[in-house]
Amino acid sequence: MANIYTNNLSVEAVREHIPFINECIYVDNGSTTPVPIPVMEAMNEYFLKYCTNVGRGGYDLAVEATKNFDLAREYASKLLLNCKMEELIFTRNLTQTSNIVAYALENRPLERINGTFDYGKPLVKWEKNDKIVTTIMEHHANFMPWMRLAKNLGIKFNIIEPTPDGILMPEAFSEAVDENTKFVAFQHVSNSMGTIHPIKEIIKAIKEKNPSALVYIDGSQGPGHLPVDVYDLGCDFYGFSGHKGPLGPPGTGGLFAKKDIIMKMAVMELGGGIVSDVTINDWELISDVPSKRFDAGTPNIVGFIGLGRAAKYVAQEIGLQAIKEREHLLTKQLIDGIQNLENIHLYVPEDPDYIGGTVTFNVDGWKCSELSLKLAKDWNILTRAGHHCTIPLMRFLNVLDKYGGHIRVTFHYFNTEEEVDTIIKALKALNKG
Ligand SMILES: Cc1ncc(COP(=O)(O)O)c(C=O)c1O
Repeated sequence: MANIYTNNLSVEAVREHIPFINECIYVDNGSTTPVPIPVMEAMNEYFLKYCTNVGRGGYDLAVEATKNFDLAREYASKLLLNCKMEELIFTRNLTQTSNIVAYALENRPLERINGTFDYGKPLVKWEKNDKIVTTIMEHHANFMPWMRLAKNLGIKFNIIEPTPDGILMPEAFSEAVDENTKFVAFQHVSNSMGTIHPIKEIIKAIKEKNPSALVYIDGSQGPGHLPVDVYDLGCDFYGFSGHKGPLGPPGTGGLFAKKDIIMKMAVMELGGGIVSDVTINDWELISDVPSKRFDAGTPNIVGFIGLGRAAKYVAQEIGLQAIKEREHLLTKQLIDGIQNLENIHLYVPEDPDYIGGTVTFNVDGWKCSELSLKLAKDWNILTRAGHHCTIPLMRFLNVLDKYGGHIRVTFHYFNTEEEVDTIIKALKALNKG
């Protein structure tokens, strides 16, 4: 892994870098993680010292902006995914990441190649009996784009179910995948049950059944919470959001795709910054850094500079393994503290090996949104309640009508044991019996 070197910043030091979390109990990290001061400082520096466009101007400040923008891609790719920068496409968030891939799966690439302006080979040659496989646990952002794609192409859309306690198992994929399966999409870590799925084993099972099936991983709840090595995993695509885990700013995200795949992808947006030539009859896209084919127009320069700095912060200054272990400890503490309460229902894996940094639950007698508001109002505990953009999973768990979804507590490194104790105390007090 790239991120062996770490300083292991203390919890206290990280809390000093994020002032607002000292005014409340912030356990809604699954929605958005806060941005620490060193990340803001890197972004401020851009605004204060070299706020110019990238990849365009030749004067010193513009060169500095381009250099720092490239460095940000270098840090984010190496430290968050352990991939090469030319294989990390910058995106707005995981939602855009899925839509970029869906577009490339439906459209053929178009550019001038060897003097001819024409459509290249499709990324996937779809045929009548083909299928896309995904799971009932997915966030809508890793579900709806594939459902539309299947509908547009007139192919099957097959759904895998997890174990009752929310684990996606390799056997289920072995069963579902066959020679007609051309694309499989699933999550690394569940935003609604907290499961860290055995994705390396799942990818192996898929590739054993069909080596040419392309595998897309929704890593929204992965990078920044745990070490990720996309080459070791063996996936074809891996997407993430910069503001969920890596402590980067909202409006940033990334998509890893292998270089030969990027070169076959139709780009969704055309415009400045991604071409080596344009005539009145055709165009040629850049190919020295394939990931930059997706940088049409002025990118979110300051956001990605923040993301690069955030990657260093979580991977080199705290340490991703340390984050993973600490989140696991806090999660276990909360589960142990509430699982025996009479009216509580937990939606987490039973086997601790699969537990990440999330605890989801309901309490009888409460709609989840009301309980979440009560926790915020009376105890200053900030949780998320509802369906978490996983309505199919909520139906699978049978929690939609009765509770309106469930409550989610999501930790990061900076949360404390004392905060967990307060959550346990609050739930005991609000448990109506
Ligand atoms: C597992 C998962 N996938 C996808 C998304 C969508 O991410 P974004 O809103 O950054 O596009 C989320 C957001 O909560 C998520 O948790």
